Amino acid sequence: MNEVASRVRYLRDTLDQHNYNYYVLSAPTIPDKEFDLLMKELEELEAQYPELADPHSPTKRVGSDLSKEFEPVAHKYPMLSLSNTYSEEEVREFYERTERALNEPFDIVCELKYDGTSISLTYENGKLVRAVTRGDGTRGDDVTANVKTIRSVPLKLRGDTYPAEFEIRGEILLPWAEFDRLNKEREEQEEPLFANPRNAASGTLKQQNPAIVASRRLDAYFYYMLGDNLPCDGHYENLEMARTWGFKIPDVLRKCSTLEEVFDYLKYWDVARKELPVATDGVVLKVNSIRQQRNLGFTSKSPRWAIAYKFQAEQAVTRLNSVSFQVGRIGTITPVANLEPVLLSGTTVKRASLHNEDIIESLDLHLGDYVMVEKGGEIIPKIVGVDTDARSILLGDKVRFVQTCPECGTKLVRPEGEAAHYCPNDTGCPPQIKGRIEHFVTRRALDIGIGPETVDDLYEVLGVRNVADLYTIEEADLLSLERWGERSARNFLDSLEKSKSVPYERVLYGLGIRFVGETVARRLASAFPSMEELQQASLEVLTEVDEIGDRIAQSVMDYFADEANLILVARLKEYGLQMKISEEKLSGRTDKLKGLTIVISGTFSIHSRDEYKAMIEQNGGKNSGSVSGKTDYILAGENMGPSKLEKAAKLGVKVINEEEFLNMLAE
Ligand code: IVH
Repeated sequence: MNEVASRVRYLRDTLDQHNYNYYVLSAPTIPDKEFDLLMKELEELEAQYPELADPHSPTKRVGSDLSKEFEPVAHKYPMLSLSNTYSEEEVREFYERTERALNEPFDIVCELKYDGTSISLTYENGKLVRAVTRGDGTRGDDVTANVKTIRSVPLKLRGDTYPAEFEIRGEILLPWAEFDRLNKEREEQEEPLFANPRNAASGTLKQQNPAIVASRRLDAYFYYMLGDNLPCDGHYENLEMARTWGFKIPDVLRKCSTLEEVFDYLKYWDVARKELPVATDGVVLKVNSIRQQRNLGFTSKSPRWAIAYKFQAEQAVTRLNSVSFQVGRIGTITPVANLEPVLLSGTTVKRASLHNEDIIESLDLHLGDYVMVEKGGEIIPKIVGVDTDARSILLGDKVRFVQTCPECGTKLVRPEGEAAHYCPNDTGCPPQIKGRIEHFVTRRALDIGIGPETVDDLYEVLGVRNVADLYTIEEADLLSLERWGERSARNFLDSLEKSKSVPYERVLYGLGIRFVGETVARRLASAFPSMEELQQASLEVLTEVDEIGDRIAQSVMDYFADEANLILVARLKEYGLQMKISEEKLSGRTDKLKGLTIVISGTFSIHSRDEYKAMIEQNGGKNSGSVSGKTDYILAGENMGPSKLEKAAKLGVKVINEEEFLNMLAE
């Protein structure tokens, strides 16, 4: 046992070190594969020896999918905001005000202002005990479970120079690269896009499911420490110390002793920030000495010892030439402004998004107007205003939202309560047809290695009109296309052939039914082991499936109510695609838990939570996230939350442990 305990300790320390190298220093020293193997070994040992469990173990970062409501927590020290300034003049005023108030030498620390969502972490005896959002400044949400999944947040501190108790504040950020990846994925899954990394970061942090948070690779930078026993009087020096404890402290901090140095910093970062991996929107200036900070004090809203200098959002004025309307893959209409080309933060802007009808109306936009274009934290520039004074007497036509689809002429619909217009002709509108084929061939669906250009050719030249048509393509057809040789034709036909063994749940995902992303497709496939059963399911039966709500159920119903889709699915079946769950998966299925709703809670030692979930589904039961009157059993592991236990007792729900559950299946 001692040997096991020391191996576990060794693995935890080693993995902590590698996590730190990778996520804080960005300098990994072992290959990912090796890391995964060590992690796996630790997971196995922890499962085998539950008595060695530790909530701060690196295995606890993966995020269980325990759904948890956030609990409001009062901040020990309020989370204030900073007063904003927009010019060097105002910065000078701040500096001179400070000079007068202190009447002694002082240093100013310059830092970047990170544009994410703020967080306050509490550490006790070197361990992370709580992570709370800003909330209203006095109370925030306890998002500890989610924050623990962020690899650059230390769960345990390094060294031994940290105070017994302190708070550290910082910004949770979604790096640009992750933001782009996430939006691309959301586009594929037909989910609304995040407007900027800030919204994406705060949205992610408020996710009820830490496993989703873990999958989004957030990062966290720290810039402010609070506590009674901080090691130094200097804010700068304290942060340097915090760096040695394992926190990610930005290395762009600079301690300045003159106003000129401060201005140099502003000038330098106004440009250099564009190369950073995360979004920033200004510089924060702080008096370094904590003693001096205390002397300066606070106003009701913000400290007198700090200000934020906001970078100018880059704007340009240019002429609106025309407005075009684009049709997306699921038929969403996006209005786009075509502009007289103008230089904006180093790139030439010719087009800007106009978002929707309401925005066009609120701008009272006319053709020929001079418009203000802005490039903020968003990827696509937007129009923020119209220079009405610059309008000529010959006012151009008022911009009106199109009523019919610019691609196929069908009358558009705008669902009640939504801002967007859609083209309802999903089976006849070219960009929608091509979009659905593009979705079907993606790697995560049928994995037929072709891109949008090829899909275009297949549509235009070979007359492919739906995904079933792909399976009628012959080598000679392909050779008639430009840029195609025998080899590429063979490859394409090979991947078509291979796609016939892609599992049923991915075929279902590939159909591109609205709101049926990968997870939903897997859920549906396990509840309805064949396409036929799914087709015949009623709305009631569909909504009985865990996590299938009315919106998804209705969308599935609508899909199969369309004759064209029924024909399509029948053809795909005829061509040999997988239309039912594989024998292997099926063979383990029983009805032993039929009609039973089981909630999983806590941590387990024999099997993982995911395995239990799969077992429930395999045996005909339903796994649900929260305890209610409909719950039959709670499968409880270690550390089950007290609120769940209480609720279970109140409702008289039976609580069973792992062994009892496994016995139920063994019977
Ligand atoms: S210091 C009392 N430093 O800006 C001062 N804040 O308007 C505490 N922020 O809520 C904040 N980068 O979310 C500080 N380097 C930085 C920052 C920063 C971003 C955010 C933070 C805060 C808001 C203040």
